[in-house]
Amino acid sequence: MMNQKVRWGILGAGRIAGQFARGLAACESGVLTAIGSRSQAKADAFGDEHGIPRRHGSYEALVADGDVDAIYVATPHPMHHPNALLVLRAGKALLCEKPFTVNASQAREVVAAARRAGVFCMEAMWSRFLPSVRQAADLVRQGAIGEVRMIQADFGFRTAVDPEGRLFRPELAGGGLLDVGIYPLSLAAMILGRPQAATGFAQLGSTGVDEQAAFVVKFPGDTLALCATGVRTATPHEATILGADGQIRLTSPWWKGSSLIVSRGGTVETLKPEIVGNGYNYQADEVARCIAAGRTESDVMPLDETVALIETMDQLRAQWHLRYPME
Ligand SMILES: NC(=O)c1ccc[n+]([C@@H]2O[C@H](COP(=O)([O-])OP(=O)(O)OC[C@H]3O[C@@H](n4cnc5c(N)ncnc54)[C@H](OP(=O)(O)O)[C@@H]3O)[C@@H](O)[C@H]2O)c1
Repeated sequence: MMNQKVRWGILGAGRIAGQFARGLAACESGVLTAIGSRSQAKADAFGDEHGIPRRHGSYEALVADGDVDAIYVATPHPMHHPNALLVLRAGKALLCEKPFTVNASQAREVVAAARRAGVFCMEAMWSRFLPSVRQAADLVRQGAIGEVRMIQADFGFRTAVDPEGRLFRPELAGGGLLDVGIYPLSLAAMILGRPQAATGFAQLGSTGVDEQAAFVVKFPGDTLALCATGVRTATPHEATILGADGQIRLTSPWWKGSSLIVSRGGTVETLKPEIVGNGYNYQADEVARCIAAGRTESDVMPLDETVALIETMDQLRAQWHLRYPME
């Protein structure tokens, strides 16, 4: 077991940062030591709310904090690239929110910087580390449903169009695919391997971002994933792994931990893996495990896979003529 807790800093005091802070409170492998915000007042308020001792009024001051081992980047998508580079240049371990970056060229640059610096780096695809998702992957590996043929998965919700909001602003790389479409895509890759090609359709809304999309991805061995996403369309939030000898259904909402329904050979079994904390703690445990083992990458969420998934999203966006202003 770990004998030293990872001392965490959070970069950006927004909504998901608060969730991660609550996750860390349920985590034995790490402790939340510092918060960095562009505003000292915001850092102080976040620090008060979550009981964080060290509060910094700039991201630069956070990454320079000698009492911090690892930094979780929780800013909007386009800031991940500069913020990740800032963290890596300071020699700190990095856990960067999904999508890791807006496009693959940014992702390759961050990955190269991490490898040059020799520090730990991982995309915060937290769902991969949930007990239910881990158990589904283990069952597949053990051959519980035979050879996997296809995955159906979705993550879409319906919210009001807000031209000023993060989800609808092209300058913040808004739209469904990068925000939540990445979840079914990443789940499929976790089971099927690196994507080989993708095709699909999207409906672009009044602000120019994808409000809903459906896409198919081809994986090695002609295995397939059928995915749906959106910020203007609520989907079932289910995932089903279809094998030659059975199926595993991750019930709704699969991406934050749920039951598994395993159907095979005429039997149906429901498994309910226990979940501790709010779920964001499991990715922090993975970072701690890797750091303790002297590893710079997770084999559950490897960096080359992160890049491959963003390449796939680039491919889909090219088909949809969806380019962001910063590209
Ligand atoms: N894993 C998950 O379940 C999950 C859920 C939601 C979101 N996310 C990801 O987390 C990231 C942040 O999402 P969020 O919903 O937490 O966003 P948010 O509430 O808007 O917070 C983002 C924070 O980033 C900082 N920031 C830096 N530059 C900014 C800019 N130009 N405009 C706005 N904020 C800026 C701000 O913090 P300061 O003012 O303190 O500097 C802001 O509070 C996104 O990439 C999203 O994909 C993940």
